[in-house]
Amino acid sequence: MAIFNPIDIRKDFPTLEQKVNKHNLIYFDNGATAHKPKVVINSIQEYYTNKNSNIHRGVHTLSRQITEAYEQARVTVQHFVNAAFSHEIVFTKGTTDSINLVAYSFGKRFVKAGDEVMISAMEHHSNILPWMQLCEDRGASLKVVPINKAGEIKVEDFTKLITDRTKLVAITHVSNTLGTINPIKEIIHNAHLRNVPVLIDGAQAVPHLKVDVQDLDADFYCFSAHKMFGPTGVGVLYAKEKWLNEMPPYQSGGGIIQTVSFEGVTYAPAPLKFEAGTPHIAGGIGLATAINYINQIGFEQIEKYENELLNYAQSQLHQMEEVEIIGQSEHKAAVVSFIVKGLHPYDVGMILDKYGVAVRTGHHCTQPLMDYYKIPGTIRASLAFYNTFEEIDTFVTALKKAIKMLS
Ligand code: ALA
Repeated sequence: MAIFNPIDIRKDFPTLEQKVNKHNLIYFDNGATAHKPKVVINSIQEYYTNKNSNIHRGVHTLSRQITEAYEQARVTVQHFVNAAFSHEIVFTKGTTDSINLVAYSFGKRFVKAGDEVMISAMEHHSNILPWMQLCEDRGASLKVVPINKAGEIKVEDFTKLITDRTKLVAITHVSNTLGTINPIKEIIHNAHLRNVPVLIDGAQAVPHLKVDVQDLDADFYCFSAHKMFGPTGVGVLYAKEKWLNEMPPYQSGGGIIQTVSFEGVTYAPAPLKFEAGTPHIAGGIGLATAINYINQIGFEQIEKYENELLNYAQSQLHQMEEVEIIGQSEHKAAVVSFIVKGLHPYDVGMILDKYGVAVRTGHHCTQPLMDYYKIPGTIRASLAFYNTFEEIDTFVTALKKAIKMLS
């Protein structure tokens, strides 16, 4: 393991080298999407330059080579989350697509009128809307577990709400807005005591912490490549084999069958049953390259460094009396959401942009969470291992200037 040095690491990311509005770019919008290291960009270019071919469809050399590379990417993902089998890894378009797959397919097979699906009050719209739609279609009901002011879920609150009608619990590992790391291992354990499977939205967790789906005993774990330094348009659904075997296909088309006649269809086993059409082949390979890149740094170093960055950013913001941090759990990934009293988040975000600081402002696709805090939105700084303490200082200086200008 090489010594962790963010200055060296930054050299791997060409987009970080640019100026925005005549200032060095300070990119604190990693929760929306992370930048890509050269190795990932090169792997995608290499596919389209020299390897372009379709998978699972040809006996010719290029097709065989790329099929092998794509299936090897699946194995890389398997090891990344420590799944028991590579066929438990389904490639999707991203987290949203993975959740929709489960809502449609698990829902079709297992959710009936009168049943319940349980989510939490801090979910991203991607982990709310598919369940709302499923419940509406099936005549089931959606139960929402509350959070406290610090932005935490209490395991007991979850457990209390589970009934004999609960068919699935769906919860985020790390809140995209608050940064809270939820106690998902305990939640999964308690849900399993009542025989309820659990889906985890891991989109904001995988860039920051080591995930072990077997240790968590998660039934479903969803994430996107683009938030973990890979390409857009590709993501992962991890699902236990037993669920994949029971669930019907999500979409129909080429690649998911064993036989087809006008009298009937027999489907291929998972994961192919869930991967209709030509997939994002370059994306799968790019994702595997991103995983290898992350593994070279190692989560031990990433978690330690990001925790220091988070503590530094929060302590700087705590010293500003106009600022209120939204989401103050002790267990947080490197995400700081805040409001500036009397100012609209958009106005602050616009001025920060003038200084080259990229943050996300608004409801962050968590409107029910904003309703809970009775605010229109927040300013969110979401950090990655290539960010630095100096960048936090520059951001705080720009924030002070913005407050002065707008007050
Ligand atoms: N879900 C992403 C975010 O939180 C887009 O910004």
